[in-house]
Amino acid sequence: MIGFNSFKDIDKELGLVEANLASSVESQLSIMNQASVHLIKAGGKRLRPAFALLAGSFYKKDLAPLIPAATALELIHMATLVHDDVIDDSETRRGTATVKSAWGNRISIYAGNYIFARALGLISDYQRSDVVDLLAESSMKICEGEIIQMLSCYNVHLGLKNYLRRIERKTALLISVSCELGAMIANAPAREIEALRNYGYYLGMAFQVTDDILDFIADEKILGKPTGSDIRQGVITLPALYALKHGPGRQELAASLSSPERCLSQAEEIIGMVLESDGIEYSYYVTSHFAGKAKKQLEYLPAVPARERLYEIADFIMSRDY
Ligand code: IPE
Ligand code: IPE
Ligand code: MG
Ligand code: MG
Repeated sequence: MIGFNSFKDIDKELGLVEANLASSVESQLSIMNQASVHLIKAGGKRLRPAFALLAGSFYKKDLAPLIPAATALELIHMATLVHDDVIDDSETRRGTATVKSAWGNRISIYAGNYIFARALGLISDYQRSDVVDLLAESSMKICEGEIIQMLSCYNVHLGLKNYLRRIERKTALLISVSCELGAMIANAPAREIEALRNYGYYLGMAFQVTDDILDFIADEKILGKPTGSDIRQGVITLPALYALKHGPGRQELAASLSSPERCLSQAEEIIGMVLESDGIEYSYYVTSHFAGKAKKQLEYLPAVPARERLYEIADFIMSRDY
């Protein structure tokens, strides 16, 4: 599991984040309570809070001041997942029913907004406009990334640049901000805040490329969410981009990926064509490239145990299967 051992030094704090998550979304309204608690209880890797805590632990022994920010990061992430499952019409998430499938689209939209608003409440306690700015900016970028992705569906003429732009916004920036925020709240020197921000950025890019690979090759039970959903929705990710450019039968693949009907009815064949190209191998190569860049940033940081943990996570990112 990703980061399993790497989170051992922040075990206690992650426990506090967990308790804080549960109490944050408490609502008098039972349906809102149930929907939010459902997603929290389903688990998840808690990657974003862990990054904030690890980044802060470079500079502070007492991580208590970081707990609300770490919780808010997970809440923002969760709010995007609740909405994403509406957009993607997904039935499973974190190995269980999505909020969408259990309560429907209309409740999910409000539940996502509710969870996001709770994150704002936690952040306001810091009374720091730089912290608010950072989270506002990355929340806006996530929406942009999701919209660029939506507008790019079935378009086989868009290339690597478009792909990198959308994964940067939808995923990498929030991971980057998680590292940055942890360092900022722990009063790290500016140069080191920058290194942690860059580490999170490259790590986040590697993380999303891996996520896109897993959509082709993972075991749904282990992944905890549906596979093949990118192709079915016409979302052209890196393995498919490679196949479109270099794979056998590229023209036929382009014709299939341009057609919403074929993406649905011939998803298995399309996935087969992508697997026949070296798209997966190439994407793993890109992941390791980003992970390498992430590790390089760690050279600017003090040699404390947290740095080792961040190295390990960068190595783990490629071998994760969920
Ligand atoms: C899922 O994120 C959405 C992406 C950005 C790929 P995670 O893989 O971190 O999801 P959880 O929190 O572990 O469920
Ligand atoms: C997840 O995107 C949502 C965000 C990153 C905002 P995806 O649709 O690609 O991820 P999964 O596969 O549902 O987790
Ligand atoms: Mg999506
Ligand atoms: Mg999705």
